[in-house]
Amino acid sequence: MMSLVATPSSVILIKNIGELVTLAPLADEHRAHDVSAKDLGRIYKSWLLIKDGKVAETGSMSSLQEDSLKCSSVFDAAGGLLLPGLIDSHTHPLFAGSRHGEFVQRLEGRSYQEIAASGGGIQSTVRNTRAASSSQLEVLLESRARKALLQGVTTLEIKSGYALSVEEELRHLRIMKNVQQKDLHSSARRLPELMITCLALHAVPTEHSKSDFIKACTEQLLPRVHEEKLAQYVDAFVEEGYFSVTDIEDYVEKAKELGIGVRLHADEFSDAGGAAAAATWGAACADHLQFASAEGMRAMGKKRVAATMLPGTSLYTGIPYTDARPFLEAGCPLVIATDFNPGSCLLDNLHFLCTMGALHNHLSLAQSFVAVTYAAACSLGLGKRKGALVKGFDADLALFPLSSLEEWLADAGRTAATRVWFAGEAVRV
Ligand code: NIG
Ligand code: FE
Repeated sequence: MMSLVATPSSVILIKNIGELVTLAPLADEHRAHDVSAKDLGRIYKSWLLIKDGKVAETGSMSSLQEDSLKCSSVFDAAGGLLLPGLIDSHTHPLFAGSRHGEFVQRLEGRSYQEIAASGGGIQSTVRNTRAASSSQLEVLLESRARKALLQGVTTLEIKSGYALSVEEELRHLRIMKNVQQKDLHSSARRLPELMITCLALHAVPTEHSKSDFIKACTEQLLPRVHEEKLAQYVDAFVEEGYFSVTDIEDYVEKAKELGIGVRLHADEFSDAGGAAAAATWGAACADHLQFASAEGMRAMGKKRVAATMLPGTSLYTGIPYTDARPFLEAGCPLVIATDFNPGSCLLDNLHFLCTMGALHNHLSLAQSFVAVTYAAACSLGLGKRKGALVKGFDADLALFPLSSLEEWLADAGRTAATRVWFAGEAVRV
């Protein structure tokens, strides 16, 4: 029976904020490209009001009339830096086992591709993940997602990728969906909001031919993914030795026909035409992009396909860093993500990787911060409610005991968030 008693609305005031970064100019225009310092929407010595989990109002401390706000609770930020919750838009956290032996092999001079060609790499994680039970995988995924939230990451994209068969892929996606739905309506939120990407075409399985596998994924897997609403996006590894643009055409078209968005691993080790294909297909983003062609960059810019920089993978494997500047010039929104995975990047600290991206992918303060917040939200189709702090947006916040955004970027992930809010609820005290 429906209750006739209205639940009192929750009104939370966060006051004495030293610096608040709202990104309001971007959110107001729903724009993630062409970012400059004025887009940060900074308010110094400020307050923020949360009503029923959403941002309601912001203002300067000098204008605060606390009594008139009728708050159910008040939090004193003690002069700290309040940011929109960070958004990690590219991770591979559903895996079992470890590949630290490969890390050591790389120190001895073997490349990521050489290790993969001799049965290591993705195939090695596929063996370990297939052997793990669903409850083991669920625990691993949850603890990795929980760790992200405690670091201030309030939205996390999670890819499959270590299944390489239709049935196993469905098992992995169902585990991910289970975790995604877990505390969806709980006020004691333990996990970030999860966005699921079906990366069925991550590598060619050893048991099947490439064409048979792609056909099965296109004709059998994708309709099931759609029916059970298992994923919001599909992805594929467009790379020499993995999948070509032509290989995946039907798979991508099928996904689009079913209303599933497209993201791509593109042109990481060679120019495989992934950037241009991402534009042709209207993908949300193309990621890695070290060897993207000038033509591919231009095509991405025209369609506003986000260019995702993954500096952790470059640091961890020694491959070049992607230069963000030509993508910026082309008009692409720029995103930075961790690419957390067991092989090419075990780094999962998005704050640290934002600093790395600024340094090595060549982004300014504003561009690099937007790359882990509003631009990442837009690349996940969440630009109307996440990644900025304006009226009506989810009150996902991270408070740092730092004096400015400049200090945060220079800090390189050394200083942890002291408090994180998800939809207006504090998740860490
Ligand atoms: O994004 N490049 C392809 N896939 C992952 C690596 C996966 C792995 O090595 O397990 C990446 O780097
Ligand atoms: Fe990746």
